[in-house]
Amino acid sequence: MSNITNNGKPDNLVEVENLKKWFPVQKSFLDRLLTGHLDYIRAVDGVTFAIRRGEVFGLAGESGSGKTTTGRLAIRLIDPTAGTVRFDGVDLATLSREELRKMRRRMQVIFQDPMASLNPRMSLGEGIMHGLKIHFPEKSNLHREMTMEIMEKVGLSPARFFYNKFPHQISGGQRQRVVIARALITSPDLVMADEPIAMADVSVRALLLDLMIQLKQEFNLTYLFITHDLATAKYICDRIGIMYLGQLVEIGELREVYTYSLHPYTQALLAAVPVPNPHKRRTQAMPEGEIPNPINPPSGCRFHPRCPIARDDCSKIEPNLRELRPDHWVACHYAEEFLK
Ligand SMILES: Nc1ncnc2c1ncn2[C@@H]1O[C@H](COP(=O)(O)OP(=O)(O)O)[C@@H](O)[C@H]1O
Ligand SMILES: [Mg+2]
Repeated sequence: MSNITNNGKPDNLVEVENLKKWFPVQKSFLDRLLTGHLDYIRAVDGVTFAIRRGEVFGLAGESGSGKTTTGRLAIRLIDPTAGTVRFDGVDLATLSREELRKMRRRMQVIFQDPMASLNPRMSLGEGIMHGLKIHFPEKSNLHREMTMEIMEKVGLSPARFFYNKFPHQISGGQRQRVVIARALITSPDLVMADEPIAMADVSVRALLLDLMIQLKQEFNLTYLFITHDLATAKYICDRIGIMYLGQLVEIGELREVYTYSLHPYTQALLAAVPVPNPHKRRTQAMPEGEIPNPINPPSGCRFHPRCPIARDDCSKIEPNLRELRPDHWVACHYAEEFLK
């Protein structure tokens, strides 16, 4: 694979280590007086992974599992409570504001809701051009031409037809193309895409994914692709990390994880994916019980209250990620049972 260097080590663009983000819970003065402490939502609670140069790395899991927070931490849109993020070998915490601002050119974002991420009063052309003004002000004579070029590449064609339009004048699918163009115009290395097709019409979802795959090749991009939908992940990801309550429970190459899933949670998620052929397999419901509260996560393995194979010690000892198959890691005390 191209993302493995000569000495056999993966060539990582991003390395995230023991990352945590705890949000303080707003409490009344009286509450604080009575309990004497602050509570925290442990949105991300000790996450370690790497994104290899040129791959699509997926983060999947039910809503509330901490995917978005992890993504925002990974490109330092927010500061971690603990842990480190290295981008292209540089610890982002060591950068000055100005250095981080420069680094931002190389890390761009595509959010779920294009309407919310676009300025309604800016023409599409101006909106897409924005990053050029920030990062390449000295090349202002080229901005318009570069903007038109990227518009054509994302399928907003002919670009002069779309250039002076406004977000409300185009379709949702076209709006997401604007957001993609805006992310790519600064020639980033990494694009963090957070549920980028979740709000698009079902009919254009595959088109948008295909566009993202094509642009990735053309611009040598690396993606951090966040989705709650394992079918979408299957379509686009090379490797995947499965999150549950702020932690990674399984991580590996996509085909490996889908074929030989070793964590009961991953197995449950996969069993709940709707299958196109109704005669082939029945879709199963997710295991009983709600996702527990990230303020007071279950002791030991966080999945134990919902886990079909939980034993006594699962509520006592927290499992670490272990490599049970090549490059395939799982955090479950009893995952050996699923080794084929
Ligand atoms: N800014 C915030 N302040 C307080 N709690 C937050 C904030 N952002 C996220 N959370 C909480 O952190 C947990 C993880 O959220 P999130 O990262 O958005 O998960 P996901 O993207 O997997 O749905 C949730 O319980 C969410 O309510
Ligand atoms: Mg999210």
